[in-house]
Amino acid sequence: MATRSWDVGILGATGMVGQQLVRRLEGHPWFRLAWVAASERSEGKRYGDTPWLLGGSVPAYARDLVLDKAEPGRAPRLVFSALDAGAAGPLERAFAEAGRLVVSNARTHRLADDVPLLIPEVNAGHLDLLPTQRAARGWSGAIVTNPNCSTTFLAIVLAACRPFSPRRVIVTTFQAASGAGHPGVASWDLLGNVVPFIDGEEEKIERETRKILGTCTGRSVMPAPVAVSAQAARVPVLDGHTEAISVEFDRVPEEAELAAALGGFTGLPPEAGLPSAPARPIVHLREPDRPQPRLDALREDGMAVCVGRVRRCPVLHYKLVALGHNTIRGAAGAAILNAELLVARGWAGGGGRSWS
Ligand SMILES: NC(=O)c1ccc[n+]([C@@H]2O[C@H](COP(=O)([O-])OP(=O)(O)OC[C@H]3O[C@@H](n4cnc5c(N)ncnc54)[C@H](OP(=O)(O)O)[C@@H]3O)[C@@H](O)[C@H]2O)c1
Repeated sequence: MATRSWDVGILGATGMVGQQLVRRLEGHPWFRLAWVAASERSEGKRYGDTPWLLGGSVPAYARDLVLDKAEPGRAPRLVFSALDAGAAGPLERAFAEAGRLVVSNARTHRLADDVPLLIPEVNAGHLDLLPTQRAARGWSGAIVTNPNCSTTFLAIVLAACRPFSPRRVIVTTFQAASGAGHPGVASWDLLGNVVPFIDGEEEKIERETRKILGTCTGRSVMPAPVAVSAQAARVPVLDGHTEAISVEFDRVPEEAELAAALGGFTGLPPEAGLPSAPARPIVHLREPDRPQPRLDALREDGMAVCVGRVRRCPVLHYKLVALGHNTIRGAAGAAILNAELLVARGWAGGGGRSWS
């Protein structure tokens, strides 16, 4: 649908998520990476000379970009933020005030009343908060956020279950090392071990899920009436968060009906035409020992949530296992998809087009 390209920038371009953004923006049909920034430690360095944390090497197209000061001055209108939560608060606000559209991975603004916590397949309508946000804050730019990685996978599964009205959910997560950023958890603490605590993670999963599935009034979001109880553990896996989920419904589906709702979930109308939208947001695997992070995290180019082991639960109604790639569907890929939605809806300038 887009007939032009948009220059984009990345705040926090040297971190785990920032690098995944650089990698996924290579050859993007709508976006051209024109600007990168990180902390003062990185300022002035050539991007290709900073340590590359992902496999392979720094994509050639980005090597000669020079890391700028984290200030809006030279930044393009559309800026991805992969900043530390601490730095994200004041910096993202400053960029939005200076007219930038900030598409953020950080937790800082996610639960603000007037900030969309967006998953295009689940709650594209929450972009209706943006006029309120701009009016209330006097910004010419705006902030849009994507959820916590584990929350994203759970929310997509629950969105597919909407026909059966999920009411109570118990989720236990097994989260990969890359979810803690770089350098993350010390190898001594993690190798051969399970750490049953990730600071703030359980609260994020419980609160963000209700906002994402909630009803947007235009001024704020009424949280969905679903109770979520989460436990989060760090496990010695590189990429891919696994989740054991049990759900109680208002209307209990037959197993085949539930499987069809999960496997058939699309969320976005085909005419949306967002380049990063997976053909199948949920891939239902039937083998009894799947999904597994090493085998399945990169399905649909890392943008799918894989589910398996769908079966009756003797306590709640059903239980299943879900898996998502934390730095792609849970972070960089999610942010790029959100930016594509902003473009498609006309928020990035240059016209958009309407579909609901
Ligand atoms: N990793 C995941 O799976 C995941 C998933 C979802 C959301 N997130 C969120 O995404 C954000 C980035 O995560 P990450 O894992 O990529 O973290 P990370 O590897 O620790 O990277 C943090 C980035 O922020 C920059 N930074 C730190 N302090 C700064 C400051 N004061 N001013 C400007 N830049 C600053 C760092 O620059 P320097 O290199 O110069 O220090 C680096 O580029 C976090 O908010 C995280 O919670 C992460």
